[in-house]
Amino acid sequence: MTPASRQQKPADGIEIVPLTAAFCPLASAIHAEGFEDQDHWSADEMIALLDVPGAFGFLAFAPGNPAENRLDTPLGFIQMQAVLDEAEINTIVVAKEARKRGVARKLLSATFDRLRETGVGRVLLEVADDNAPAIALYRYCGFTEIGRRKKYYRRQSGRQVDALVMERDLGSCVLGWGD
Ligand SMILES: CC(C)(COP(=O)(O)OP(=O)(O)OC[C@H]1O[C@@H](n2cnc3c(N)ncnc32)[C@H](O)[C@@H]1OP(=O)(O)O)[C@@H](O)C(=O)NCCC(=O)NCCS
Repeated sequence: MTPASRQQKPADGIEIVPLTAAFCPLASAIHAEGFEDQDHWSADEMIALLDVPGAFGFLAFAPGNPAENRLDTPLGFIQMQAVLDEAEINTIVVAKEARKRGVARKLLSATFDRLRETGVGRVLLEVADDNAPAIALYRYCGFTEIGRRKKYYRRQSGRQVDALVMERDLGSCVLGWGD
């Protein structure tokens, strides 16, 4: 599972599966890569998070080629927490070499489908206000800003960063995205 093998996979080969405890070591490694300047989640912490009622996640991967004995390549994951008719995105991370190919969009689309099936109508999240790629992703996927939490995150350097609070009504249709 080299960075090069992640790059070689075609964008339309992305598959989405439920994030289970067995995948948590892989997901933990992607999380560490995605949040270099923040505390990252260990596999055990991720398993504990998935154990909470209403929690679930999805993993994106590019299928390997059995004829060439190539293993599947994990590309990214999302972890969610639903409570009654609301849900929160706890995290979404895509491996560096797999970014800008629609992996996060596919993860969010699968997540929205699952939430709608279970009667959830509203999704919330917090995102650091200096995280331009994530803010762009969420806006692209129909989220709007509803608030700001001052100095919500503390980087490993000690720097404090505001969080934007964003929401998306799952009943609304977003033109151009087709979720
Ligand atoms: C944010 C993140 C998950 C996006 O994943 P991704 O798979 O690259 O996103 P996608 O390819 O699905 O992008 C979908 C849309 O989001 C927007 N977007 C995503 N990354 C962007 C970037 N770096 N710059 C500008 N817009 C971006 C674009 O509108 C993009 O559509 P386009 O490719 O047609 O322009 C990824 O950059 C990441 O893992 N970052 C580190 C972890 C992180 O910050 N997670 C969010 C925590 S709140």
